[in-house]
Amino acid sequence: MSEFRDTKERPLDVLVWGATGYTGKLVAEYLAEHYGQGELRWGIAGRSQQKLEDVRTQLTRRRAFLADLPLVVADAHDPVSLRRMVAQTRAICSTVGPFALHGSALVAACVQERTHYADITGEVQWVRRMIDEHHDAASDAGVRIVPCCGFDSIPSDLGVQMMVEHLRDVHHQETRLVRQVFGPSRGGVSGGTVASLLNVIEESSRDRTLRRLLADPYALDPKGSPKTPSSPDQKGPAYDPDLRCWTAPFVMAAINTRVVRRSHALLGRTYGPRFQYGESMLSGEGPWGALASVGVSAALVGGLGALAIPPVRALLKRFVLPEPGDGPSEATRERGFFRSWLVAEGEGGAKVFGRVAGHKDPGYQETAKMLAESVICLALDQDQLTSGGGLLTPASAMGRVLRERLVRAGMTFQIDDGGSR
Ligand SMILES: NC(=O)c1ccc[n+]([C@@H]2O[C@H](COP(=O)([O-])OP(=O)(O)OC[C@H]3O[C@@H](n4cnc5c(N)ncnc54)[C@H](OP(=O)(O)O)[C@@H]3O)[C@@H](O)[C@H]2O)c1
Repeated sequence: MSEFRDTKERPLDVLVWGATGYTGKLVAEYLAEHYGQGELRWGIAGRSQQKLEDVRTQLTRRRAFLADLPLVVADAHDPVSLRRMVAQTRAICSTVGPFALHGSALVAACVQERTHYADITGEVQWVRRMIDEHHDAASDAGVRIVPCCGFDSIPSDLGVQMMVEHLRDVHHQETRLVRQVFGPSRGGVSGGTVASLLNVIEESSRDRTLRRLLADPYALDPKGSPKTPSSPDQKGPAYDPDLRCWTAPFVMAAINTRVVRRSHALLGRTYGPRFQYGESMLSGEGPWGALASVGVSAALVGGLGALAIPPVRALLKRFVLPEPGDGPSEATRERGFFRSWLVAEGEGGAKVFGRVAGHKDPGYQETAKMLAESVICLALDQDQLTSGGGLLTPASAMGRVLRERLVRAGMTFQIDDGGSR
């Protein structure tokens, strides 16, 4: 369908699809704020021309030169409109979720039109489906399809890769184990995130195979990959002797650990033949930390259990949870932050500490930054990327090139060799 055989000839570098939603608007604002006139050829896309015009008007109040910002209308369930949209740009990012409900046709269109793609899904079951349906074709076409470019799972995926590269380059050791502990952090939640989480719970309450997939630590590995040594998820309270703190299960480990393991597999298992990864949430130090880790572990199991009950879900949706389009206020986003701590152990005994942090609301302001820099990296840094095409991960698709972009954009990726938390 594309009239531009060479993707470099396409009129746009980057399109933001979902720009009328809560997170998509933040991505557009990030680009407006950080990329001046002539620095990037970008546009916004959505299903409603009127809403897109409203977003452009708001952006123009900050940056007058955006009065001509290209607008593209495409609906998630109209494949022709999607192909027409993606044929105009070198790369596209999507915030149209729940992805399991609205995301699949766009991925198919990107593979057909050879348009690189990034999104912010955290829906393991949908990513698995996209791998099964499109990895081989994307690989043949040299198209990089990269889900999970938000708070899930960039801090985990690029953080682990940073530790592995340091052990290899400085200590000349393969990596045996990386642990990452998230916390403290502050931020809010949007209606789209709630809708996506509830959709996973609804789908899995109907489907036993899906429940089995969600419990599989290697749910996103290429078919036939070796699964040893086993890396079970943390299920209860635990003490981390290196970080000297108590930890509890982290809800996002359910996607992040699968993405990290897929990266290791796609990168030819170069992290190390015995590589293991685990992720948890900081609950504190001393006896209070121990108590908190027990409480948080129980609350997580209880909370997810309660959400599996349809009337509880319906009540929460009606009276408590944010609607699609809503999300944390600007003040909450500005006050937000996240920190995470890494410990990596090499096969030769080296032990290295690291830190990944963001300085605004992780799920929204920092996620907008991570997604925007990912899609720009896919569009403009192609000469520096060593990956081929396929259904990839942030680390396997963009790795160090994206990490350096994010550090320039204000995120912290830091090694503390010989130090401690
Ligand atoms: N990974 C992370 O860290 C992270 C962080 C934040 C959000 N997320 C995920 O991002 C997604 C969006 O969240 P959000 O809070 O921004 O949601 P939202 O405010 O509800 O926005 C959803 C967007 O999808 C669009 N949309 C819905 N149906 C469509 C269709 N048929 N065709 C085209 N566009 C359609 C909406 O368009 P209209 O405006 O026309 O309704 C809107 O632009 C969710 O899946 C959430 O889980 C992930």
